[in-house]
Amino acid sequence: MTTSAELIEVSERRSAHNYHPLPVVIREADGAWVTDVEGKRYLDFLSGYSSLNFGHGNPKILEAAQRQLQHLTLTSRAFYHDQFAAFCAGLGDLTGKDMILPMNTGAEAVETAIKVARKWGYEVKGVERDKANIIVMEDNFHGRTTTIISFSTDPDAHDGFGPYTPGFKVVKYGSVEAVREAVDANTVAVLVEPIQGEAGVLVPPDGYLTQLRELCTTANILMIADEIQSGLGRTGKTFACDHEGVVPDIYVLGKALGGGVVPVSAIAADADVLGVIKPGQHGSTFGGNPLACAVGNAVIEILNTGEFQDRAARLGEVLHARLNELVGNGVITVRGRGLWAGVDIDPSLATGRAVSKALMGRGVLAKDTHGSTIRLAPPIMISEEDLLWAVDQLAATIASFRQ
Ligand SMILES: Cc1ncc(COP(=O)(O)O)c(C=O)c1O
Repeated sequence: MTTSAELIEVSERRSAHNYHPLPVVIREADGAWVTDVEGKRYLDFLSGYSSLNFGHGNPKILEAAQRQLQHLTLTSRAFYHDQFAAFCAGLGDLTGKDMILPMNTGAEAVETAIKVARKWGYEVKGVERDKANIIVMEDNFHGRTTTIISFSTDPDAHDGFGPYTPGFKVVKYGSVEAVREAVDANTVAVLVEPIQGEAGVLVPPDGYLTQLRELCTTANILMIADEIQSGLGRTGKTFACDHEGVVPDIYVLGKALGGGVVPVSAIAADADVLGVIKPGQHGSTFGGNPLACAVGNAVIEILNTGEFQDRAARLGEVLHARLNELVGNGVITVRGRGLWAGVDIDPSLATGRAVSKALMGRGVLAKDTHGSTIRLAPPIMISEEDLLWAVDQLAATIASFRQ
């Protein structure tokens, strides 16, 4: 089994079809480039759904991982280990929060935020037992666990997996009025993606996050920002909420926190919120393990320089200026912020999948989402030259469908 065709055939036959990958088998990667088993190189314009913000094989992150592998990889949380304190203090400082609760995957961190908000509702806000509700948004994407898909509005994610977890109210994304109308005495939290990634990089109207923050404060509701995909430099700031100077009560983080090496997720909140969790009430065998913390510490160190945030902001302007030139030429709309874009291709030309496949043929890996939208999120360390080359390939791909 050595060729792409052979490896794909076995993968398809022997794995569940819960994904529909592009037909490329990657063997190696460096920075923004990946190489397949036949030696063909591609620019990575997906970055593991923003998990590789700092690039493949980032030397600082790899060095931290390799160093840690020599010392200690797992203790479970039954004991302390020497990387844990720095991770919690460092991430606490980065988010401006008192406390951290580490987990592994993004979905686990979202579940954690939901549990914390409910417990806070009962113990601090005084909501009647088992009556708490959380307001969530249409077209949300927060992961794949049973509770999370219970409030998904995407039929593929939701249908066929009931019975569903109650306690969620779905409202229109981008409308503070819709949230205001949904709030009742039992509302404990609003869960929001500051930019909806999976839905197609949907940026809410200016002032939305600010007004949501004000509403949550006035109504004594926790604002939970799922920054798993939007955070850690992607949009040109450390957090997408920073664009409006908004500080949520709970940050939910994942993806790039693991530096593209290991799954690392966490929630960050102040002691009056996260302090409600006591021994035995939540946890994970691998959450906050030494390897994860060592990698997370390298990521935090990188973010503390501000270098990647500035680079995403600068290159983001280059990317969006160039993408906007395609509007009207096979592209209907371009949305996004920083090095993150959702490009709506004219559906009469081609599906997003067809465009992604053709783009792959030209050496750029990107993935479609929801029909005819292509999501672009290159590693932030990408060179300007490579960035522009990739957009040229996108332009040429779209042009090929117009002939
Ligand atoms: C905003 C958001 N939340 C949560 C998740 C789930 O993360 P994971 O796939 O690590 O469980 C994702 C993944 O795409 C995401 O984009």
